[in-house]
Amino acid sequence: MISDAQERLPRLPRLIEQATATFTKRFAHPPKWVAIGPGRVNLIGEHVDYNDGFVLPMAIDRHIVIAAAPASARCALSATESLPQVPSHISRLASDGQEQLVEIDTTSAMKRSDPAWANYVRGVIAGFQDRGITVPTFDAMVVSDLPMGGGLSSSAAIEMATASLLEIMTGHFMSLAEKALLCQRAEHEFARVPCGIMDQFASAMGRRDHLLLLDCRSQQISHVPLQDDSIAVLIVNSNVRHELSDGGYAQRRSQCEQAAAMLGVSSLRDATMADLAAAESQMEPVNYRRARHVISEIQRTTEAAAAVEAAQWDDVGKAMYESHASLRDDFEVSCAELDLLVELARGISEGQASDVLRDSVIGCRMTGGGFGGCVVSLVKKHLASKVAAEISKRYELKTGIAATAFITRPADGAKAWLL
Ligand code: GLA
Repeated sequence: MISDAQERLPRLPRLIEQATATFTKRFAHPPKWVAIGPGRVNLIGEHVDYNDGFVLPMAIDRHIVIAAAPASARCALSATESLPQVPSHISRLASDGQEQLVEIDTTSAMKRSDPAWANYVRGVIAGFQDRGITVPTFDAMVVSDLPMGGGLSSSAAIEMATASLLEIMTGHFMSLAEKALLCQRAEHEFARVPCGIMDQFASAMGRRDHLLLLDCRSQQISHVPLQDDSIAVLIVNSNVRHELSDGGYAQRRSQCEQAAAMLGVSSLRDATMADLAAAESQMEPVNYRRARHVISEIQRTTEAAAAVEAAQWDDVGKAMYESHASLRDDFEVSCAELDLLVELARGISEGQASDVLRDSVIGCRMTGGGFGGCVVSLVKKHLASKVAAEISKRYELKTGIAATAFITRPADGAKAWLL
C-alpha cells in the first residue's frame, strides 16, 4: 500500500525510490546508478516510420527504471540463503514482483533465451559488444509503471534505459540517434520484431512539454511545443491484445514494400496520391489500400504538426479521426475494441453523455502498432478526468472489459546518472 506521503510524491521520483529500495533489499548492497526510459504515445503518423514518413510521437511520464551497481560492489556479507554467491563474471537482473533472477554472462556473446523480457537487455548488451565495448558485470533491478504490451513501447523504454545505463557504466557515450538505432536493432534481432525507428527515437529524444516531429528518412527531428494549458493528452488502454499483432505487422511492411515497388519508388514517402490513382488498375487492391493509408497519413502528420504549432485544435482533431478511419479501413490494423473507444470519445464530445462534456474531446485515434492496445485523445484539460471516467464506464458496459485510462504529458527522454 502507498502511504499518504508517498502518494504526494510525483510519479517518477516515487518509481526511482522504489527501484533503489528494492535493489538494496534484493541484492543486499546499494545501487550506484539509475537509468530511466520513458514509454511513448504517438499522436499521429501511424505505420509510416518504415515507409520513410513523418511521425509525431511524444515520450510519456510513464517509465522503466533500472537501478544498478557493479558486481565489484557485491560483498561476502550479501550472500544469503535466498541469494547465493554467483561467479564474478555473471550479471544478475531482477524485475520487481518476479522471484526469478536472470543470470547473464556479459563476458561472452549474447544469445536469445528465457525469460523473454530479458532479451531486450541482452540485445542492447550485444549492441555494445558489437562496438568492441566491454560490458562489466553488474546487478540490476528493473521497475516500471508502464503497462506492458499495451502499445506504449515498454520494449523501447527498457532498451533505452539499458543503453543509457551501459553508457554510464562503460564510459562510452553515443549520440541519441546512434543509441536509438542500436536499440531498434536489439528489438529486431533479440525480440524478432521488425519495428521502425519511431519508438526508440521517441524514448531517446522526448522533451518535456513537446511533441517530436521525426522525419524517418533523414532522421531529423524538430520539437513541437505542446504547452497549451487548456489541453491534456488522455490515453485509454483497451486492455485487449489480438493474436494478429506480430504476423500482421510484418505483413503490412511487406505489402507497403510491394506497393512501393509497383509504383517505382524506393519507399511510399516518394509516391503521391496522383501516382497511386494512376497505378490503381495494376495494383493488388489490398496493396492499393495500404499505400493509400501511408501516403495520406504522411500528409496528415505534417499538417497536424503545423496545426499543433498554430493551436488550430479543430484541424488537429479532424486529422486524428481521419487517421483512425484510415488505419481501420485501409490499413486494417484496428479492432472492434479500439473502434468502440474512438466512437465513444466522439459521441461524448457530441453531447451523448451530458451537455457538460460537449466539445470536451478534440480528437481520438488508435495509437501504436494496433490490433489492441491504446487510443490517444486530445481533450480539454478541465474535463479530462470526467471524459476518462465516461469512456471507461461505457466501454465496460459494452464489452465487459475494464479499460485503464490515464492523463499524461510529454516527458524528457531516457537518461542515466550516478547516485
Ligand atoms: C510499432 C512499431 C513502430 C511503428 C508503429 C506503428 O509501435 O514498433 O516502429 O511502426 O508500430 O506506427
